[in-house]
Amino acid sequence: MAEQKATTSVLLEETRIFPPSKELVENSNVMAWMKKKGFTTEKEMRAWTSQHYIQFWGEMAKDYVDWFEPWAQLLNWQPPYAKWFVGAKCNVAYNAVDRHAKGAKKDKVAYIFVPEPTDQPTQKITYGELAKAVNRLANGLKSLGVQKGDRVSIYMPMIPETAIAMVACAKIGAIHSVVFSGFSSGGLNSRVLDAESKVVITTDGFFRRGKPLPLKPNVDEAVSNAPSVQKVVVVKRAGIEVPWNPARDVWYHELVAKQSDACESEKMDAEDRLFILYTSGTTGKPKGIEHVHGGYCVGPAQTLHWVFDIKETDVWWCTADVGWITGHSYVVYGPLVLGTTTMIYEGSPDFPDFGRWFQIIQDNKVSVFYTAPTAIRMFMKAGETWPKKYDLSSLRLLGSVGEPINPEAWIWYRDNFGGGKLQIMDTWWQTETGTFLVSPLPITPLKPGSPTFPLPGFNIDILDEDANPVPPGTGGNIVSNTPWPSMLRAFYRDPERYKKEYWQMYWEIRPGTYLAGDKATKDKDGYFTIQGRIDDVLKVAGHRISNAEVESALVSHPKVAEAAVIGKPDEVKGEVIVAFVILRTGAQESEDLKKELSKHVRTVLGPVAYPEAVFFVKDVPKTRSGKIMRRVVKAKALGNPTGDLSALANPEAVEAIPLIK
Ligand code: PRX
Repeated sequence: MAEQKATTSVLLEETRIFPPSKELVENSNVMAWMKKKGFTTEKEMRAWTSQHYIQFWGEMAKDYVDWFEPWAQLLNWQPPYAKWFVGAKCNVAYNAVDRHAKGAKKDKVAYIFVPEPTDQPTQKITYGELAKAVNRLANGLKSLGVQKGDRVSIYMPMIPETAIAMVACAKIGAIHSVVFSGFSSGGLNSRVLDAESKVVITTDGFFRRGKPLPLKPNVDEAVSNAPSVQKVVVVKRAGIEVPWNPARDVWYHELVAKQSDACESEKMDAEDRLFILYTSGTTGKPKGIEHVHGGYCVGPAQTLHWVFDIKETDVWWCTADVGWITGHSYVVYGPLVLGTTTMIYEGSPDFPDFGRWFQIIQDNKVSVFYTAPTAIRMFMKAGETWPKKYDLSSLRLLGSVGEPINPEAWIWYRDNFGGGKLQIMDTWWQTETGTFLVSPLPITPLKPGSPTFPLPGFNIDILDEDANPVPPGTGGNIVSNTPWPSMLRAFYRDPERYKKEYWQMYWEIRPGTYLAGDKATKDKDGYFTIQGRIDDVLKVAGHRISNAEVESALVSHPKVAEAAVIGKPDEVKGEVIVAFVILRTGAQESEDLKKELSKHVRTVLGPVAYPEAVFFVKDVPKTRSGKIMRRVVKAKALGNPTGDLSALANPEAVEAIPLIK
């Protein structure tokens, strides 16, 4: 990280401002709270809630959550370890389903599920039905020997059973580790091994572009060397034949058929672990980010309610896959704790054609819609005739996440999804943060491409290398100065890396300063713009992938000696993966081998990490300690200035990197 300067400068300043309508402001959830508290301006409210963040979160925790036992202390902050709601007992499953199922929301629809095949009907699941399904699976997991604190890996497509599996784990105090189903068996294997999961929940297969594809064979391969795994629970989704190990494999429908539909939620300590979610960092080894029950009861629900202004009648659609943090917080826990109706769509946005998402919005009267810039740019390319064919008048608010949204895509989104008038909540956050940190509220005047300001209850700033806040127009490191309830608590079994990656940078100057790993800038009005990662982490179609992970997948091929992986800017996906490969002696360069290497990465890591292009090189630039200088590789390959090369052991290698534009 130290290779790059913390500060950069901004070349283009956005001057367009899009104020919210009076109606949106007046009826917003945040405005109701402001009126109750006597705040007259957004600025004043944001300032007060940042300053009094502990008190603020205490109030939110009372407003949004039912606690089994109250806390003795709101926050115990011993940097870099925070404990919130100390001594309190709760369970996010109780808040997400139990309380709704026995209350007024029993018959309200929790999930609307749209299968990918167009001949399969949409399913609606009420909170009452959801609670029963969760309870049956929770009892089923118990019958398989799963206990509080055990880890359960969930490797599933976007179907309601995935959310049910997560909440069932939470209910009995098991810790779930969801692995994105776009990872291959290799990606699943490392995550199951690290978590030492007792059970894996999966499906026989899933539908993609109209075809049933197998999933379970990946699990068979991934658990073959994982002795911790005692059972594999399989949802029958695609109806295809899959290999079966009768001693280990259990059909989900058979398991739950035998179970009672009543199950008490375990009384968890607020700081008990709810889940581990592996995410990519600077090394090839994914980091297991740990989140807790208490924080997850409060953060996702409160931020969803304020930012997306969720009302009782809204139909909420967050298009993210549950395999990523956005799905955890805003398809499962946030909307369920609020008692919202949420869409789940199984498949591709362009199947059978580019009208599919618009059709879903029209048919289900989706009112609040949240997606990634990559999807918007894909629709932009497909053309505005697609949204024009459908009635999108049910929409009232839009959102964006996962990568910077360029102003052109922002305007296109507003015009074509939002009829030229809907506000866009561009939410900046991370797997580590659990919830949005920098985001507009429905009352905020917007600038295209800016997530605007730190949310209430947060103290986010942009610092130079010496921990000084940067002046307007100058980029620096985005940090959080104070803890928040839904923040990560640790890395699973790797406390040293946790300290090093997030807290070390400013420890000597200001201990307890969280380094997010993104560069950002503020303009003269305080509007944030996110400029991208400071570390070697790729963002491909919004998915977070580590350069090092792709490089080690390449090096695992018998013909590869070394590899350097960079992100090449891409009009639609933000970035695509490009690899520079040094072959072993005797291996012949060929176009076929390039294809084979890309396929090899797909097999090892999954389609999500597929390199778009492979180039053969004789050498790659390295530091004297042998670290590949990806920054230099990237600059040379893209035809940008390579900067200071004095740290290189082999400056001649730079010349050999081809221009790839
Ligand atoms: O670089 C930022 C980018 O996504 C990173 C976090 O990735 P992940 O943990 O996979 O979580 C993605 C979903 C929250 C951040 O460090 N990022 C996320 N949201 C935005 C963003 N970049 C710019 N604008 C955003 N709204």
